[in-house]
Amino acid sequence: MYNTSVPDADTMVRLHLSESPFSASPSAVAAATAALERVNRYPAPQRESLVEALAEHWGVRENQIAVANGSDELVLATALSLGELSHPGLVTAGTFPGYREALERIGRGAVALPLRYADIGVEAFADRLLHHGIGYVCNPHNPSGTALSRDTFGTLVSAAHAGQVPLVFDEAYQEFSDPGLPQTRDFLDRGAPVLALRTFSKAYGLAALRIGYAIGRADLIAEVRRTLNVLPFSVNRVAQAAALAALADQRFLSEIRDGTAERRKWFCAELERRGYRYLSSVTNFVAVQVVASAEAQNALAKDYGILVRDTGIFGFPGHLRVSLGTENELRTFLDALDQLTADQGASNGSWSDIIGPGGTTRGAQRGVG
Ligand SMILES: Cc1ncc(COP(=O)(O)O)c(C=O)c1O
Repeated sequence: MYNTSVPDADTMVRLHLSESPFSASPSAVAAATAALERVNRYPAPQRESLVEALAEHWGVRENQIAVANGSDELVLATALSLGELSHPGLVTAGTFPGYREALERIGRGAVALPLRYADIGVEAFADRLLHHGIGYVCNPHNPSGTALSRDTFGTLVSAAHAGQVPLVFDEAYQEFSDPGLPQTRDFLDRGAPVLALRTFSKAYGLAALRIGYAIGRADLIAEVRRTLNVLPFSVNRVAQAAALAALADQRFLSEIRDGTAERRKWFCAELERRGYRYLSSVTNFVAVQVVASAEAQNALAKDYGILVRDTGIFGFPGHLRVSLGTENELRTFLDALDQLTADQGASNGSWSDIIGPGGTTRGAQRGVG
């Protein structure tokens, strides 16, 4: 399996982790560099400067924010802290595996609701939530790249409210999408037991520093913070300084959003021109339809030095999730995919079964190779 553990991953074309090819705001990098002057001093355990800045940024109270070592730490902290702990969590199948893995590792267990094609079955999720201790919804959705409508978002929030079951929206990719799309912040004032997980790893380009935050109802945040306090120094000094500066540079963030949208448009046009199908995305990755996605992922890594993500590892086979890297990286990927198709066609004719026919598809039935 070619993934993050590939030893020479830094010398390969990295399109597998939805990283930003744009790096971070120069002021964030400068702040990180300056913070290194004090590497002998522990970081602020309460992360108060960043909490204060985030509260102001979002127009919420400071007790509605919890800062942690990436969203990963918040997935674990929410699973450990929220809702009726003797009840399993509800997740969707075919998505980021962190929710299920955390719930299973702590012995709480998880029930995965199948996707309807590439979409979350919102009505079914809302119905089932009542019978679970906590719910996790990835929106925008990884790995499909699609987003909930305002109505469907509202349905989920109402279900959490009615059943008083905490519902966690993982919004790792929200900053890439149109700011007008619905997000958890829009629903916080209703008093529902919801919270959002946000990260500085993606659009802010600080993946190496490991920093993210939760924003939500104060009582839920208090519980999450109690768990986070077990590891008081998990968010290091350099990360806190960089995130603070990154948050202050919203102009950079909007340039990233625009640059990503432009690249997505270009990449999707190239896919169409070359006859590939894909799922329409609002994020910094695109799921390209490739029937034998595991084989294609491994061939791309082994023979071409290109890392992409087989969505089969999420339980959603039939696509390669490709990060919107640099234009050069994406051309390298597209050329390699063309080459793979051609080679296979020449050897045994089977690649026409592996790469789907042309045209855009959203939520269409995929063949599974
Ligand atoms: C949906 C989703 N949630 C959370 C994470 C983890 O983010 P972080 O780097 O903040 O731990 C990722 C990383 O790829 C992700 O795709």
